[in-house]
Amino acid sequence: MVEIKTESELAMMREAGRVVANTLHAVKEAAAIGVSLRELDEVAAHVISEAGAKPSFLHYQPRSAPTPYPNVLCASVNDVVVHGIPTAYRIQDGDLVSIDCGAILDGWNGDAAISFVVGHADPRDLALIEATERALAAGIAAAQPGAKLGDISYAIGTSGRASGFGMLEDHGGHGIGRAMHEDPHLANEGRAGRGMRLKPGLALAIEPMLTRGGDAYRYADDGWSIRTADGSRAAHVEHTIAITEDGPRVLTVR
Ligand code: MF3
Ligand code: CO
Repeated sequence: MVEIKTESELAMMREAGRVVANTLHAVKEAAAIGVSLRELDEVAAHVISEAGAKPSFLHYQPRSAPTPYPNVLCASVNDVVVHGIPTAYRIQDGDLVSIDCGAILDGWNGDAAISFVVGHADPRDLALIEATERALAAGIAAAQPGAKLGDISYAIGTSGRASGFGMLEDHGGHGIGRAMHEDPHLANEGRAGRGMRLKPGLALAIEPMLTRGGDAYRYADDGWSIRTADGSRAAHVEHTIAITEDGPRVLTVR
């Protein structure tokens, strides 16, 4: 069922989103050559708890997952697209790091992700990240009251494809509110004018995932990490937004 939030509920989601944005900011500041993904997870756990919030990924188990999610963050390095588990792996010069974070504050969820390169960057990785950010911006811009859900998918997909990069198959965004994953599912490619009409009070997590190679993926042995099938590097960025009378409102900014 699609939940429509009141203006005061959106104000609470804004505060949850702020916690997520502050956490991602702190994690990016801490990310450096030699720092382990587990250390980044500890930074996130600290920022979230100091804000009086709870991490939403920790122990999360969708029906499709083999085990409950073991950490606060998803930390996806290089060919890991999403859902990378923060291990003892230490960040190396030139790594493309994607960090996904969710938090619950006063019962409301925020969900966002950033991608960046640590140390000396391959210009092709920077182009990939910029294209992923452009696809997110295009999706947000299409999230207008009165438009259709398919307009957002179309905007993300055409922007991503125009960049010439791959787009991870079968993955997309989602409704969000009291639960991290609510209806509707938001495909990262689709046809304009199709799907449900966007109404003020609908909150969505928009999350394009682009690759420097093809669209195919495989699960790693940990049952969670999704790697590109061809080993190419990938980027993932995400914001939680709300449809309002005045247009899209981004909730996961500081
Ligand atoms: N942004 C991701 C998603 O919507 C976060 C989920 S990670 C999980 O799928 F561990 F919580 F599943
Ligand atoms: Co999400």
